[in-house]
Amino acid sequence: MEGSQCLPILQHKATLTKLVKDNVFLVVTGETGSGKTTQLPQYLYEAGLWKGGIIGITQPRRVAAITVAQRVSQEMHFTLGKEVGYQVRFDDCTSQATVVKYMTDGCLLREILADPGLSQYSVVILDEAHERSLNTDILLGLLKKTLLQADKGSKDGSVRLRVVVMSATLETDKLSTFLGHCPVFTIPGRTFPVTSRFGNAIGPKEVDSSRYVNEVVRVALEVHVSEVAGDILVFLTGQSEIEKACDMLYEKAESIDYRYDVQDQTVEGLLILPLYGSMPTDQQRQIFQAPPSGIRKCVVATNIAATSLTINGIKYIVDSGFVKQLNHNSRVGMDILEVVPISKSEAQQRAGRAGRTSAGKCFRIYSNEFWEKCMLDYTVPEIQRASLTSVVLTLKCLGVHDVIRFPYLDHPEERLLLEALKQLYQFDAIDRRGQVTQLGRLIMEFPLHPGLTRALLKAAAYGCEDILLPLAAMLSVENIFIRPGTAKQKEADKKQRNMAAQSGGMNDFATLLSVFQWCKASDSPSAWCKENWIHWRALKSAFSIETQLREILLRLQQVKDFPVETFAGNKSELFRRCLCTGYFTNVARRSIGKIFSTMDGHGTAVHVHPSSSLFDQEAELDWVIFHDMMVTSRVYLRTVCPIRYDWVKDLLPKLHEVDAYELSNIAREEVNEEELAKLESKEAKRQKDTAKKLEKRNDETS
Ligand code: CDP
Ligand code: MG
Repeated sequence: MEGSQCLPILQHKATLTKLVKDNVFLVVTGETGSGKTTQLPQYLYEAGLWKGGIIGITQPRRVAAITVAQRVSQEMHFTLGKEVGYQVRFDDCTSQATVVKYMTDGCLLREILADPGLSQYSVVILDEAHERSLNTDILLGLLKKTLLQADKGSKDGSVRLRVVVMSATLETDKLSTFLGHCPVFTIPGRTFPVTSRFGNAIGPKEVDSSRYVNEVVRVALEVHVSEVAGDILVFLTGQSEIEKACDMLYEKAESIDYRYDVQDQTVEGLLILPLYGSMPTDQQRQIFQAPPSGIRKCVVATNIAATSLTINGIKYIVDSGFVKQLNHNSRVGMDILEVVPISKSEAQQRAGRAGRTSAGKCFRIYSNEFWEKCMLDYTVPEIQRASLTSVVLTLKCLGVHDVIRFPYLDHPEERLLLEALKQLYQFDAIDRRGQVTQLGRLIMEFPLHPGLTRALLKAAAYGCEDILLPLAAMLSVENIFIRPGTAKQKEADKKQRNMAAQSGGMNDFATLLSVFQWCKASDSPSAWCKENWIHWRALKSAFSIETQLREILLRLQQVKDFPVETFAGNKSELFRRCLCTGYFTNVARRSIGKIFSTMDGHGTAVHVHPSSSLFDQEAELDWVIFHDMMVTSRVYLRTVCPIRYDWVKDLLPKLHEVDAYELSNIAREEVNEEELAKLESKEAKRQKDTAKKLEKRNDETS
C-alpha cells in the first residue's frame, strides 16, 4: 500500500473537497504529517477544480515547495514541471501544462503584482499559515481585502477564486474570524505520547554555538547506544553547525562496538543525514527513505523539519533549543540573522515530531530554568520583528497606500512601518507624497534588496552592468567559501586570502566578483571550485541567478526609459561608486583604532569581521561600505570595501533628513500639501546644514 493510502486526511476527502468548492475561504488544520500539503491539492485536482484555473499552494520555505512538488508529481505519476510543478525565487519548474503549482509565498506575492485578481488560479492554498511568515501574512490581508469585497458584489453566488488557509494547529479561530468567520475543518489526528526531559547543558546565560553543537552530538549518541530502535531527529540552527555536528557524529559513531556498546542488539549501525535549506535536492530525497534494516537513521536538521517536512519513523528528538531568525535589530537599525531561543510552543511542536507512529521521547539539552526564563510562550510573527521595506513597496505598487490601516492579522509595530517608509524614501523608491517613483517600480522588478538593485541600475546606466550582475548574484547565494573547520582550515584560509589579493585586495565585493569570473572562465568550473575551497553548488546557482537578473534587466531596458550616464575614471572606482549608490545606508567611518562608527544616525560602534580581506588593515581605512552585519558581543561588518567620502557626500544627508519628514502621515495617506511645502523648505535647509556639518567633520579629521 502506498504511503498516502493510510494518512489521516484520506477519510475526509469528500467533505474537504465539498467544503473547498462551497466556500470562498476555508481554514484547514491538523497535526503535522496528516497529509494536508501533499494530499489536499490532489483531491482538488481529482475533483476537476483545475479546469477553472491553477491550484496553487504556497510555502514559506523554498525547500518545502520543491520537495513536496517532487513527491506529489511522483504520487500522481506525472513528470515534475508538467502537470505538477514548483516555482521559487530564481528557479521556475512549471510549464503551460502546470495545474498544480507549489510555490513560495514570495512568488505568489509577485504574481499578485502583475495580476491582482490572480485570474489564472481557481484555488490558492496558503500553507503553513501558523509559521506566520511575512509574505503569507501579507497575502492573507490582500486576499481578504479583495475577496471579501468581491464576494459582497457578486449576487449569483458563483465563486471564481477560493482560498484555503492551512495551519498545523493553533490560532484557527483567529484565522477564521479574520476571514469573515469562515468554516474551519480539523483533521482529527492520531498522536502518541511524547515524554520530554530537560538537560543541564544550556542555562540562561549560555548561547555559545559550539557548546550546544557538542551537547546535541553527545545526547544523540547516548540515545543511539541506550534506546531501543527508532530514528533520531536533531534540531540545530543552520548549515555550518549541521555539517559540523554530522562530522562529529560520523567520527564518534565509528568507534562504537555494536557487540557490546548498544542496549538494543537489533541496532547495528547509524545513518547520519543533514537537512537544511540550501542542500541539493537529490540528497534531500534520501531523508524520506526508510533506512536499511538494523540501521538507525539520525537526521540533523534546521527548523524545516518542525512542520514543513515530515520524516516518518522518528522516535527520538534531540532539541538544541535554538533557531536562526531574521530580526530587526534596533541597536544597529538593520535586519540581522540571529540565533535565538525557540518559543515554548515551538519546542512542543519539535517534541511532537517523535510521536507520529508510536510513543516517543524528546531530549532537550537546555534546563528547565532556560525554558522558564529564556523562552517566550509563542513565536513572534515575522511581521512584528523584521524589516517591512519590500512589503511596503509591494503594497504601494498594488495601490494600497494606507499601510497603517491595511488588514493585518497581527498589526506590525508602527515603528517598523515608518522605518520601511524611511528606507524607501532614502532609496528614492517613493516620493515625499508616498507615491512609488519610476525607480521604485524598477526596484520592484528585481527580486533583490532595494539597495543592491539601485547599485545595479546605476551600473546599467554607466553601461557596466557586467560587473554588478555577477556581484548581485553572488550576494544572493549563501556560503561561497568552504570552511572545513578541520586541519584543512589553514589551507582553505590561505587560498581565500590569495584570491582576495589577486582580485586587487582590500575589497570583499571585488573578491566575490573575481571568484565568479575566474570560475566561469575556467575549463572545469567544478574542479576549479574544489581546488579553491569554493562551494560549487553555490557558484552554479550564482551563474543561473546572474542569467536571470540579466534577462530582467534586458527586458526593462527595452521598454522603460533607461537613464544613461557617462563616467571617466578607473574601473575599480566605477565599481565602488556604483556600490555607494545602493549601500549609502551602510556607510561606516573609522573613529579610533579598529573601531568604526556607522553613519545612519545610530552611530553604532562596529568592527571589521575577521573573514574580511580588510581585517587587520583597518589603520589604512577611513570610510567603508558594507553588505551586512553580524551581531555577537560585538557588531561586525561583513563584505566590506573602502570608499571615498566624496562618493557618498551627496547621499548621506538623506539619511538624516527624513526624521522631520512626515512619515506617519504618509503612512496613513494624510498628506497636507501646504504643510508639505513648509516642511520641504525647512528640510532643504536642514539638508544643507547637515551636509555642511559632515563636510566640516571630514575636513577636520582628514
Ligand atoms: O502537510 P502535512 O504536515 O499535514 O502532511 P504532508 O506534508 O502532506 O505529509 C504527508 C506524508 O507524506 C508524511 O508521512 C510525509 O512523511 C510524507 N512525505 C514524504 O514521504 N516525502 C515528501 N517529500 C513529503 C511528504
Ligand atoms: Mg504541510
